[in-house]
Amino acid sequence: MPKRIFLTRPILEEGLALLRESGAEIEIGQPDPNTPIAPQDLLAGVRSADVLLCHLSDRVSREVLEVNPALLGVATYAVGYDNIDIAAASALGIPVSNTPDVLTHATADLTWALLLAVARKIPEAHRFTAEGRFKIWNPVLFLGADVGPGGSGRSKTLGVVGFGRIGRAVARRAIGFEMEVLAHGPRSRAEIESTPGVRWASMDELIAKSDFLTLHAPLTPKTRHLIGEAELRAMKPTAYLINVARGPMIDEEALMRALKEGWIAGAALDVYEREPLLAPGLADLPNVVLAPHIGSATRETRTAMAAIAARNALAHLNGERAPQAIDPGVYDTPAWKERRARA
Ligand code: DGY
Repeated sequence: MPKRIFLTRPILEEGLALLRESGAEIEIGQPDPNTPIAPQDLLAGVRSADVLLCHLSDRVSREVLEVNPALLGVATYAVGYDNIDIAAASALGIPVSNTPDVLTHATADLTWALLLAVARKIPEAHRFTAEGRFKIWNPVLFLGADVGPGGSGRSKTLGVVGFGRIGRAVARRAIGFEMEVLAHGPRSRAEIESTPGVRWASMDELIAKSDFLTLHAPLTPKTRHLIGEAELRAMKPTAYLINVARGPMIDEEALMRALKEGWIAGAALDVYEREPLLAPGLADLPNVVLAPHIGSATRETRTAMAAIAARNALAHLNGERAPQAIDPGVYDTPAWKERRARA
């Protein structure tokens, strides 16, 4: 009997082709990429599959992982895996894999696109021009904020929270804008400062000094609501907040007040606390730029991610070590060995 890979929703064709070539049976639980898979369909799909290939919007809870004692692995089509109960997966002997590295630059680019868009009011300026309202050069039209030294001659400060692959790539781009770059994360000061032009700072200093504060940490119990009322009030009133990481890192209710009451100048968001729902009124604010979680959304990057997710899924299927296993220690556990023997 052919082995079976259950995909919650489609991935790009290049990844699907690799899965098909393997001879495995492929089932897609929700073929419409705009519709979430129903929880009962996720459970039913996993129950009868050898491997699950999921998206970052699918909640892969302990209940889902426990439904099939012969499940050989979970491959997620993302670098972030806060949607998966990794501790439960490891305890149950289920390897989980992700798609790091290939999306670093696309995500860093989107961070900069959003930063520049909110600082220079690009969405509003686009609407104004496209609607035929551009009548004459106007010295006060869409006055934004300098990102480089600009008119004041003063370098602006970029604060990077989380200095992994993406945070570092964002910081490197700031050097070209002649910015001062401060960074904070679990990495050591020496490791952070090994990137030329970057200085380690405490969270308090980073928040107080940044003209642009950008988040690149994973979502964990420690980083949930990392930016709340106290942090927003401690930012400069001229500062901007950018989030392409995970929505719940910001207390959105506090952010709404900060944006309405002018505690900060603006925000550019690709991710939301109750994604895909927006906080009521967020979209009506004049000082925000919003995107629908498209950090890695370039054709080349999503294609590469699809190929990695497919290769990970095939390794899970064959009982081999996945190239991008999140917790490789799982392969040494009796729980994994028993699971593999059962397959
Ligand atoms: C990821 O892969 O975790 C990103 O959020 C996708 O854009």
